[in-house]
Order: sequence, then C-alpha cells, then structure tokens
Amino acid sequence: MEVIIQRDYQQMSRVAAQLVVDVLNTKPNAVLGMATGSTPLGLYQELVRLHQAGQVDFSRVTTFNLDEYVGLPANHPQSYHHFMDEHFFRQVNIPRHNINIPSGTTSNYPAFCQWYEGRIAECGGIDVQILGIGSDGHIAFNEPTSSLSSRTRLKTLSKQTIDDNARFFEHREDVPVYAITMGVGTILDARKLLLVASGKTKAKAVAQAVEGPVTSMVTASALQLHRDAIVIVDEEAAAGLTMREYYEFIYAAKPAAPRT
Ligand code: F6R
Repeated sequence: MEVIIQRDYQQMSRVAAQLVVDVLNTKPNAVLGMATGSTPLGLYQELVRLHQAGQVDFSRVTTFNLDEYVGLPANHPQSYHHFMDEHFFRQVNIPRHNINIPSGTTSNYPAFCQWYEGRIAECGGIDVQILGIGSDGHIAFNEPTSSLSSRTRLKTLSKQTIDDNARFFEHREDVPVYAITMGVGTILDARKLLLVASGKTKAKAVAQAVEGPVTSMVTASALQLHRDAIVIVDEEAAAGLTMREYYEFIYAAKPAAPRT
C-alpha cells in the first residue's frame, strides 16, 4: 500500500485527481469507480476544472458508483444519483449511457445486484476505484463485520454511519437504514484503489485501515490485500499513523510523484 500525506484537503484532492488523470491518459476509455460523500468533492471539483481547461476528456469513460440509499429515488436531493449529477456528471462529458449507479428503488434487489456485478464484468472491470472511509472504517457501505469477499448486495447501515450521515438530512430519522453497495470483494477486484481521507474524525479509521490488522471490523483494512492501493490523506487524517516518516521518504524518492 502506498500512503501519501498532503498538507491539507485541497492538496489531497489535487493529488488524487492527478492520479485519476494519469489513468485516463494511458487509458482514455477507462472504467472509473466513483464514491460519494463529502471527501471526494474536492477531487471531483479538480477533475471538472481540468476538464474545463481541456486537460482531460471523459467522452470514452464508463463509471460505476459504489452505493446508493435504498428507498431514495434518483431525483431525491440526498440520493447518490443526485449527488453525482450535481457535483460531477453534469459538468463533464461522460455519455449518460456509460454512467452506472446502483438503483435505490428496484423491486428486486438480489436480481439488480447480480446484474450490477455482471455489468461491471461486461465493461472489463474497474480500472481505478475512488474510495472514502467511514469513521467506523467502512469502504462503500461495507459496515463492520461485512465479509471481506462480499459482493454487491443490500446492507444495513451501522448506527455510527447513520449518525455521521444525519448531517445531510433534515432529521436523523430521515436517513435510510439500508443501502445497496458494492461488496469488499467487488472493490478488491478493481485494478487500482484510491482512498481519500480528510480531517481528524478519520484519523483513527485511517490508522486502523493502514497499520492495523486486516479485519472485517474495519473493512478498509482489506486494502492491505490489494496490490495497487493508494491512500491519500491530509495532515489531520494522518495523525494516527506511526510509519509516517517511512511513507514520506518513499513519496519523496518517487521520481514521477506529483509535487506540491
Ligand atoms: C459513499 C461511500 C462511503 C463514504 C464514507 C465517507 O459512496 O462509499 O463509504 O466514502 O462514508 O463519507 P464522507 O466522505 O462524507 O466522510
């Protein structure tokens, strides 16, 4: 696993966006795995900026989102469909038919999940999967105790995640209890993983994921099993890491690494 520590959120977002652009430069028809939540917003803003500056083209890109709340229609302001439209898809040139987001309103969840997995495979698999991390250590909505080989499925959100996400809803009771989410196994199948984390509320989860044991209690720790996983954190999110000097030494010695 590669750990990149940046001074702040903006710089973390820039470095992450550049890594996505690097993938698109070598493979213009790459399949991108998308995450929602507040952390990747800066990354998306930077990709939009680079697109508007003519430095990156998404016309051949296909995307798959990690997850969606069950019960929220695509036009609900808190749905991940709406989030992605608002913050990214509307501002870049990805063909609509290349955008895939789990349905929060299907009448048959097991069939839909199977279809979603099949569709990822049909598209050749995910080249780079963007990830955030929950304060309980989750990736996508793979809550503590999720199997590390799980596939796309319906998942009950943990109390911690409901509390964390209540900030986006008017009342805590409005937060959906279920989500449809890619599994940890689905995520590990991506060719490259890019996890971004910012702020002190993520410091413990980041330390557990990067330096703790691989455990289903912290599903982000499964990144340790992946051969090309990059974790980009800001200072606050890096606060619990004990091997910091080592990560910085490796990053400084890397000739092609993006510089601040
Ligand atoms: C959302 C997702 C979640 C978030 C995580 C962190 O698609 O996959 O795992 O990445 O809950 O959310 P924020 O960034 O809002 O702290």
